Amino acid sequence: MQAPILAVKHITKAYPGVVALDDVSMAFEEGEIHALLGENGAGKSTLIKVISGAIEPDHGVVAFGPQEYRKLTPGLAKELGVAVIYQEFSLVESLSVARNVFLGEDQGLLVDNTAIERQATKIFEEMRVSLDPSTQVRTLSPAQKQLVEIAKAISGNVKILIMDEPSGPLSASEVETMFEIIGRLKASGVTIIYISHRLEELFRISDRVTVLRDGRYIATLVTRQTDRQALINLMVGRELKEYYPQRTVKPGEVVLEVENLSGLGDEDISFSVRKGEILGIAGLVGSGRTELVSLIYGAVPKERGEVRIEGKKREIRSPDQALDYGIGLIPEDRKHHGCILNASIRFNISLSIFKKITRFFVIDSQRQKETARHYIDKFDIKTPSMEQRVRNLSGGNQQKVILAKTLAANTNILIFDEPTRGIDVGSKQEIYNLMVELVNQGTTILMISSDMEELLGMSDRLIVLCEGKLMGEVPKEKFDQRYVIELASGHH
Ligand SMILES: Nc1ncnc2c1ncn2[C@@H]1O[C@H](COP(=O)(O)OP(=O)(O)OP(=O)(O)O)[C@@H](O)[C@H]1O
Ligand SMILES: [Mg+2]
Repeated sequence: MQAPILAVKHITKAYPGVVALDDVSMAFEEGEIHALLGENGAGKSTLIKVISGAIEPDHGVVAFGPQEYRKLTPGLAKELGVAVIYQEFSLVESLSVARNVFLGEDQGLLVDNTAIERQATKIFEEMRVSLDPSTQVRTLSPAQKQLVEIAKAISGNVKILIMDEPSGPLSASEVETMFEIIGRLKASGVTIIYISHRLEELFRISDRVTVLRDGRYIATLVTRQTDRQALINLMVGRELKEYYPQRTVKPGEVVLEVENLSGLGDEDISFSVRKGEILGIAGLVGSGRTELVSLIYGAVPKERGEVRIEGKKREIRSPDQALDYGIGLIPEDRKHHGCILNASIRFNISLSIFKKITRFFVIDSQRQKETARHYIDKFDIKTPSMEQRVRNLSGGNQQKVILAKTLAANTNILIFDEPTRGIDVGSKQEIYNLMVELVNQGTTILMISSDMEELLGMSDRLIVLCEGKLMGEVPKEKFDQRYVIELASGHH
């Protein structure tokens, strides 16, 4: 029998206090789309870093065809045809699209911009996307950046394309574009390793799925011979039912009113939210949802309009001030605005409560520790200790730290921007439970989500944005996915 295009054999990788991969062996076939699935911290990203030569395992080998490699380097892996799109963007913001696409290739001292722009244009044509290669990456949307990442990955001689949660920043239609690109690559014989927490995506595009749990290989299944529930059970190692928790308390009096709020492209947005209510904010990527909450939160100055909290007009000029008025925000771009990667989990979780736990400039370290312990348990943050640097946590566990940090501030209005992006199914359930627990206690929640099912499942009411304008308000009785999508696309 012919050797598979790629195999890992007995790979083990340990970090202080954590075994990230524990004797993992598995194989990938030529031209298949192979999904990797597992809870936050299961070892998915670590495994692909081993395959791409970014980290060296303690034991085991990576085999390309019949050839086994004990020591891989990023350069060697690339020569062997491995390209990776990492969970975090790796683009250089200050360079043009074209320069980024060919970054790492030997461009010499003098870069012929016209030549590389021509080459980049060819790649984009093959991908069937329109993007001007001379644009600075800084000015692109997250979705466009993702397309540049893909172009960069396939610009060389790629045989194995690894994608670590590529759909995170994309809207539904952009995910479709990406799937078409992946489909064409597969048809040309490229093997694709696809990591995602969105199970519906795996069912759409993957041929086989491998499940990892706690660093161990659990099983490889043919996608069309399995189902959602079976995969979830394999992932979490027990029976887990998905559901949206029920509310016990009805929304009370109006807490937050927004009138004619304008700025950052949003125009004259007006709505109100009640105590103990979850207001969902629907819209496509770029419809102005994040902009709207940044205006409310004081992260950017508004052009006009008014924000009232409990009936009183408030000028919120900074996030600090928002916190003083009892508004907390969990941002969308958590890598940049969320936390201090080089500091510990303990420190990060207590960032938003420094004022409360500091007396005469001395931090109450006992309270700091208790708070950190509470949230580490509550969200099942996978870490050997609360002193671990956030940088060393898996992607999903970093998200949980940021969530904890905002929740610890105990504000009565909470804004969640894409709260479950990158979070595994089990922890999603915990976040939903927690949201309902909070509203039952009288917290008001504004939630932006691109996951339509989640938005409809969790919200009491929806507002829908399109191109910076409020398209309408939808009460729970009228919740209907098709109707909301139509509103969000500017119909009606
Ligand atoms: N550099 C590091 N130092 C210490 N621990 C690390 C390091 N890199 C990863 N780990 C740990 O190894 C484990 C596996 O992490 P990995 O990033 O592979 O998880 P993952 O499956 O990709 O999770 P996610 O879905 O959250 O992205 C985690 O417990 C993580 O904290
Ligand atoms: Mg990961």
